Amino acid sequence: MLSLAPPGPVQPQRDAILSNPSPSRVDVEQLRRRFLDREAVIGVIGLGYVGLPLVGALTTKGFSVIGFDVDGEKVAVLNAGRSYIHHIPHETIADLLRQRRFRAVTDFAELAQVDAVLICVPTPLTRHREPDLSYVSGTARSIAPHLKPGHLIVLESTTYPGTTREVMLPILEAGGLKSGRDFFLAYSPEREDPGNSQYSTTKIPKVVGGDGADALVLATALYDQFVSRTVPVSSCETAEAVKLTENIFRAVNIALVNELKMVYAAMGIDVWEVIRAASTKPFGFMPFYPGPGLGGHCIPIDPFYLTWKAREYDISTRFIELAGEINTAMPRYVIERLQRALDEQGGKGLKGARVLILGVAYKKNVDDLRESPTLKIMELLEARGASFSYHDPYVPEIRPSREHPEFAGRRSVPLTAETARSADVALICTDHDGVDYRLLVEHCPLVIDTRNACAHLGAGNVVKA
Ligand SMILES: NC(=O)c1ccc[n+]([C@@H]2O[C@H](COP(=O)([O-])OP(=O)(O)OC[C@H]3O[C@@H](n4cnc5c(N)ncnc54)[C@H](O)[C@@H]3O)[C@@H](O)[C@H]2O)c1
Repeated sequence: MLSLAPPGPVQPQRDAILSNPSPSRVDVEQLRRRFLDREAVIGVIGLGYVGLPLVGALTTKGFSVIGFDVDGEKVAVLNAGRSYIHHIPHETIADLLRQRRFRAVTDFAELAQVDAVLICVPTPLTRHREPDLSYVSGTARSIAPHLKPGHLIVLESTTYPGTTREVMLPILEAGGLKSGRDFFLAYSPEREDPGNSQYSTTKIPKVVGGDGADALVLATALYDQFVSRTVPVSSCETAEAVKLTENIFRAVNIALVNELKMVYAAMGIDVWEVIRAASTKPFGFMPFYPGPGLGGHCIPIDPFYLTWKAREYDISTRFIELAGEINTAMPRYVIERLQRALDEQGGKGLKGARVLILGVAYKKNVDDLRESPTLKIMELLEARGASFSYHDPYVPEIRPSREHPEFAGRRSVPLTAETARSADVALICTDHDGVDYRLLVEHCPLVIDTRNACAHLGAGNVVKA
């Protein structure tokens, strides 16, 4: 069965895209059958927040998977049946090993064993906030010596339109094999939402674009086996643009509600109440929520991949830049609100204040600190002469990061009546479930809430920011 797509207007377009003639020298139908029969061995390169759930999705549907990573420590941990990501239980990894469907390796020579390679390596920004494709091109260089006829190579990392064919393809073809004739190259963006139990990897539709008709047919056949629905599009560039569009949509809308938050706060209006009421409109409105700034590996970064590429076409992406400016200003806005609240409470001021921060992870119920605005807030607090401690059940200790090495090794304090009482002010940056916000508002003299986590408590000492 090739298609799990529901009938509807997408189907004719999908059939048209998938039915172009084949110029390839390998037996495409035989390869396709290996995917349909789930006999194919799949390589996943980059065993991180995206790659690891992908391994789980593939093995659940009967594929054997070899996981590749350059980080020997991660590989050793996984082969010992343990997980290094909070929301992926040890038991999940141990199960994969028990079923003998997965092993992790650092040696790319093992690519000789696999039929398809799915690449989930990081795509960050450089210090100058330009795309850093060194992981993608490094991976292509690692694959190239082991590329063999019939290989299907799919890039899943988020990136600007053109990366698959302008950056990956020349490296892969340098050895003499040709894309579309000897091997097959495709792009399919990862849409993972770590910690989201409603939408795990297999339940999220997958967009696929191929370098040529056969690549698209093969990639679609593979993804059809383990995701709820595949959405073929006409090119790798279109699929790359789809992912950026999704994340730019979020970045811009979050900037909009952050701007509204500041205006409405000045007017004495609660933006959260406004959004809740606006959400009752059954059409034409979608709620987004303000916060202390953007975090994570995607929303603060991906939009600038397009900004960079757009310059090649003499186009400036003003919407994206503006959204970036507003979202980047949020930690300062939060600090201003905190300072004013301290002043109003008794002229205490920020200098010398003891701040208890709730939540360092960039979003609720995950242990991921990447780009977390809390780290920026910590930096600003110390620069203004305040001291802080933090409580985060997901982050017992802050790991070293490139932007904020100074906070590495700081440890989470327990949230008790005593720790709450001994702070001048608490600042909720991340609204993890399972945190006792009632205890916090009962014992801490002042609480600044950037996530509306205390709304249900009706406490008089909470200031939204
Ligand atoms: N984390 C998310 O929520 C999310 C969601 C959607 C898309 N993405 C995208 O997916 C991609 C991967 O993100 P992630 O969050 O999984 O990153 P990650 O840092 O958690 O994992 C990447 C892994 O790749 C490994 N790696 C780096 N270079 C390598 C190489 N040359 N060969 C083999 N392994 C290598 C790293 O050691 C690491 O284990 C990025 O492009 C990201 O934008 C992430």
